[in-house]
Amino acid sequence: MAKRLDISDLSIFYGDFKAVEGVTMAVEPRAVTAFIGPSGCGKSTVLRSLNRMHEVIPRAYITGKIALDGEDLYGRDVDPVRVRRSIGMVFQRPNPFPTMSIAANVLAGMKLNNKRMSKAQADEVVESSLRGANLWNEVKDRLNKPGSSLSGGQQQRLCIARAIAVEPDVLLMDEPCSALDPISTLAIEDLIGKLKQDYTIVIVTHNMQQAARVSDQTAFFNLAGVGQPGRLVEMDATEKIFSNPHEKATEDYISGRFG
Ligand SMILES: Nc1ncnc2c1ncn2[C@@H]1O[C@H](COP(=O)(O)OP(=O)(O)OP(=O)(O)O)[C@@H](O)[C@H]1O
Ligand SMILES: [Mg+2]
Repeated sequence: MAKRLDISDLSIFYGDFKAVEGVTMAVEPRAVTAFIGPSGCGKSTVLRSLNRMHEVIPRAYITGKIALDGEDLYGRDVDPVRVRRSIGMVFQRPNPFPTMSIAANVLAGMKLNNKRMSKAQADEVVESSLRGANLWNEVKDRLNKPGSSLSGGQQQRLCIARAIAVEPDVLLMDEPCSALDPISTLAIEDLIGKLKQDYTIVIVTHNMQQAARVSDQTAFFNLAGVGQPGRLVEMDATEKIFSNPHEKATEDYISGRFG
């Protein structure tokens, strides 16, 4: 659990369009890294490339290198399905399987992995994952109710439980709180703080206070203009980025002067 990601000279293309250019950064284990920057600068694009999720988009490809604890994720005999198992993703909108029960939702990733489990083992995974996602107490008496019977914030925690059930090394979260109310947002932020003891976490957020609250490292992305590729402007300790960033563009962005 909790592995390190090393990204070097990463560029990402959608067909002829270069969306991201020349990103080099290290994502540390047992820490939260926030990606911030204006809309369209490539935050989601970079995030998706970290578990090869962009490969489901026709004509999307990367150049450069991404390594997980030294292993090239794009190596010739690396199975993208295995990559996505070890690097899980939580999306902006909670997306539980609506008709599946809460328990079945938690186990959905494991079923895809084709693991055979006894009932006792399955119960154990359901409980530990729901506990890990801070949802157990709220749902333990209704595990057979459909996933859609939960509130938005609970659904998002269910999705996090589903992601951690397969025991990934890294958790990627793309604006996981943007569809949630402030209370649910705080619940997810608390959870992120707890999960970082075991996982490497990358979170994309438009909420500067959130980045400042939950992350250890912050990466600021920007783009020079429409049609230009996004670039990593700087990455540093979150405290430094929010108090005394190196680049003027970073200061302008975090102080709300643009973006
Ligand atoms: N599936 C796609 N096909 C073609 N171009 C895409 C695709 N997804 C994103 N892009 C383009 O890549 C660039 C970066 O988009 P991306 O979604 O990564 O930005 P973002 O920083 O996540 O923005 P936001 O903050 O609005 O979510 C944009 O110009 C976008 O239009
Ligand atoms: Mg995005």
